[in-house]
Parts: sequence; structure tokens; C-alpha cells
Amino acid sequence: MVSQSVLYVAVPISVVVAISLVRKWRSRNWAKCASNTCLRGKTFLITGASSGIGMETAKALVYRKARVILACRDMDKAKEIVADIRKKQPRGGELIPIHLDLSSLDSIEKFVEVIKAGFNKIDVLINNAGVYAPLKQDLKTKDGFEIHFGVNYLGHFHLTNLLLDHLRRATPSRIVIVSSTLHEKGQINFDDLNLKAEIEEAKRGKSSRHNPGYCNSKLMNYYHMKALTERLGGSGIDVNACCPGFCNTGLFRNTIRWYHYILMAPVCLLYMRSAKQGSETVVYCASDYRIEGVTGRFYRDCSEYDSSHTIDKDVEKKLWEVSEELVKARKPIPIV
Ligand SMILES: NC(=O)c1ccc[n+]([C@@H]2O[C@H](COP(=O)([O-])OP(=O)(O)OC[C@H]3O[C@@H](n4cnc5c(N)ncnc54)[C@H](OP(=O)(O)O)[C@@H]3O)[C@@H](O)[C@H]2O)c1
Repeated sequence: MVSQSVLYVAVPISVVVAISLVRKWRSRNWAKCASNTCLRGKTFLITGASSGIGMETAKALVYRKARVILACRDMDKAKEIVADIRKKQPRGGELIPIHLDLSSLDSIEKFVEVIKAGFNKIDVLINNAGVYAPLKQDLKTKDGFEIHFGVNYLGHFHLTNLLLDHLRRATPSRIVIVSSTLHEKGQINFDDLNLKAEIEEAKRGKSSRHNPGYCNSKLMNYYHMKALTERLGGSGIDVNACCPGFCNTGLFRNTIRWYHYILMAPVCLLYMRSAKQGSETVVYCASDYRIEGVTGRFYRDCSEYDSSHTIDKDVEKKLWEVSEELVKARKPIPIV
């Protein structure tokens, strides 16, 4: 007879081994960026590089000897990360943390002034920063826009436009927009871009499986990529979007309670990638020489992803025009 104490040890060990094996088996489909080209002399700018996928992307690029500008809202965190990466990769490229708060149009403009004063070109812009917050919290940017709309989309829209001259000076250059396959669950409602109706419903207790604020902003990222591709055609600036996959990062910190960690543990262990695994497709879009000249695509797992969302050219055009108007007005205004 096997004694009970042996079972107490053997059962958890078997569970851990089984989960690790299943995870390993699942992760065989999680692609890796195969290109290891030296990126010396190239300047990469990553928003939201203070944690998660952005931080891992910065590490991967600096390992390939690039100069990496970490555009972060929390400078203490950014400096800690720079020190940590430098310690681990003393012979890597250059790391430059600069303050950028995408929830403020003023901060974006100040950031661009700093970039223009210090750098004559940007080879690759990676629009990575993102937030995911429960709608009922009714979070707004400094200029009063709904937080997902303002940070994930509008802030990056403004930043990208202000950096176009710097990207033109570096051609062949790239813009990588980190979206999500959740864009397929999004909608663009020009009558309520700031989601007043949905926020009210959320405050009354109505919950939806997918956060509409987040999904809509990721769909706008997709439209942003398509609109830029069209506007920059023939300029030498490639524009692509990507989804890093479902990753274990700080993205869900506003939604997760302690008991979710216990309930979700099996899902996390089996289905969630690490931030590093998530960064592979971002690094691929930003640096793989084999896709130089390829533009207007959506990538997942380092290969092209066929989105189920059909781009509506009228929506694409209107979103661009409305975004320009909102940036000019610097506050939410009724759309006519
Ligand atoms: N994780 C996933 O499963 C998943 C799946 C698909 C797509 N994505 C996308 O991947 C991107 C990176 O997310 P992640 O998973 O790495 O999450 P994360 O660890 O929370 O990283 C998000 C980054 O964005 C920064 N950020 C947030 N608000 C900002 C603001 N106002 N100004 C400047 N920076 C700001 C954060 O800064 P702080 O460190 O200061 O908070 C952080 O560095 C996002 O665009 C997300 O939508 C993630």
C-alpha cells in the first residue's frame, strides 16, 4: 500500500509535470522571431516599454544592438528597467528612457519636442502602450476622452502624425501598431466614441464578456494601420499591426482580484504566453529583414493573420478625420 504521505507529494508533482508538458505542447505553435540581424545604428521608439510586452521587446532589440527609446509614463519604473537590462546585457545597444503620458495631448507634444531636439531620425516606431480597465470605473484621459479610446488609439494617432517626418528621414522605416485579435469584437460608433451609453450600463451592473472600450480601441488600431498604409504608400514607411497573443502581463491589473488568480490559474498555465513569448511577433514586425517593404498587414505568431473584420473605407476615412478634429479641439466634441 502506498502511504498517504507519498500520495501528498506524488499527486501535486504529477499535476505540475502534466501541466508543464501540456503547456510545452501548446507552446509549439507560439512562433519565435527567427531573425537575429544586428540592428546597430537603428533607432527604435517603443511606447509603454516599462512593463510586459513593451519591456521584453526593448530587451530583444537592445540585445540585437539597437538604440531603443523607451517612451514611458513612469520614469522611476523605466529607469529601473534600463538598469536591469544593462546589468544583464552590458554589451547590448543603447537604452534611453523618456517621459511620455499618452493620456495627455500636451505630454505627447512635449515628448515629440524632446525627440526632435535629440534625434534626427526614427527607424521604427512601435505603438505598444495599452490599458484595459473596467468600463464602470469611467476612467478618462487628461483631456477627457474615454481611457481606452484616448490612450490606446487617439494618443498614438497624434504621436504617429507628429513623428512622420522623423520616420521619413530614416526610410526604409516602419510603424508597428500593437493591436489584438480582440479587434474582431470591436465596433466603431461615431455617435458615442467615448462610450457614454455603455459606461452608464456598466455602472448599473450590466457586464459584457469582452470589454467594449478595449475591443473598440483595438479595432481603431487596425483602422489606423490601414489608413496610414494608404496615406504613406510609396513613402518607404511600412505600416503593420499585430497581436502578441494572450499574455500574462500587467494589462489586466485593473480587473483582476486575488481570487481570480486561483480560479484562472489553469487557464493561465495552459493558455497564456509569457510577456517574452508575446513580444516575439512585435520584434518580428519591427526588425525582421524578410518583411521589409511589406505593408498593410496584420500579424500573429510571426505570420500573416487573416482578420475576420472587413475594412469599411468610409469608416476608415471618417475615423481619420474625426481623430484630427478631436486632437485639434483637445476635448471630446460632438461629431457631426
Ligand atoms: N497581454 C495580452 O494578453 C495582450 C493581448 C493582445 C494585445 N495586447 C496589447 O499589447 C500591448 C502591451 O500590453 P501588455 O500586455 O504588455 O500590458 P502591460 O504590461 O500593462 O503594459 C502596458 C504598457 O503601457 C503603458 N501605458 C499605459 N498607459 C499609458 C499612458 N497613458 N502613457 C504611456 N504609457 C502607458 C504601461 O505603463 P505603466 O507600466 O506605467 O502602467 C505599460 O508599460 C497593449 O497594446 C495591449 O493591448 C496584450
